[in-house]
Amino acid sequence: MSKVMVFDHPLIQHKLSILRDEKTSVKEFRELVGEIAQLMCYEATRDLPLEEVDVKTPVDVAKCRRIAGKKLAVVPILRAGLGMVDGMVAMMPNVKVGHIGLFRDPETLEPVKYYFKMPPDITERDVIIVDPMLATGGSSVAAAQFLKDEGVRNIKLMCIIAAPEGVQAMQEAHPDVDIFAAALDDHLNEHGYIVPGLGDAGDRIFGTK
Ligand code: PRP
Ligand code: URA
Repeated sequence: MSKVMVFDHPLIQHKLSILRDEKTSVKEFRELVGEIAQLMCYEATRDLPLEEVDVKTPVDVAKCRRIAGKKLAVVPILRAGLGMVDGMVAMMPNVKVGHIGLFRDPETLEPVKYYFKMPPDITERDVIIVDPMLATGGSSVAAAQFLKDEGVRNIKLMCIIAAPEGVQAMQEAHPDVDIFAAALDDHLNEHGYIVPGLGDAGDRIFGTK
């Protein structure tokens, strides 16, 4: 069974409280999504393997540790996942970025795929899927499956707000995919929105409502 890690870091929780506020502007919302992603990236990469290296300082040789050549890719689920990419890239400047375009059919809540573009060596990379919202889980379950169908073996999911229904769907479909979230909310409403949530993440990032 996959792990679910909810980050209770005060900076993340503080920023999340502003993000949820219906009065927060598009500009601030967009900035906060990026900042939260950056802080979450720091926590979610805690298990990256390190290797010992000798570094010559102006004074002596220091025994240091560097990330051991791990190949990573960040894969946002469009649109809203795009808001998290810059924060991840700020922490990992050389990371490759793939894109999966999905939207939820408003009637069926089923994900509809409209775009899929990965770095050519994606099968050699560990992937962190990013999407601010894990609601029914349909989008994340599908995204993880598309990646597995391509041959990706190690996948993590980073979302900002998760609903219990989405966590359950992910754990049933992909018990090997660990989930990182800034909050685990209460439930979904009849329209598949997370309660209390933050509304429609894509619309709030891009100002489309
Ligand atoms: C939102 C969100 C997730 C999805 C979550 O995207 O960004 O991708 O809904 O819902 P689910 O867990 O029930 O699948 P949306 O479909 O609204 O598209 P958008 O990002 O283009 O606005
Ligand atoms: N997608 C969103 O953007 N918000 C929700 O609450 C659920 C799905």
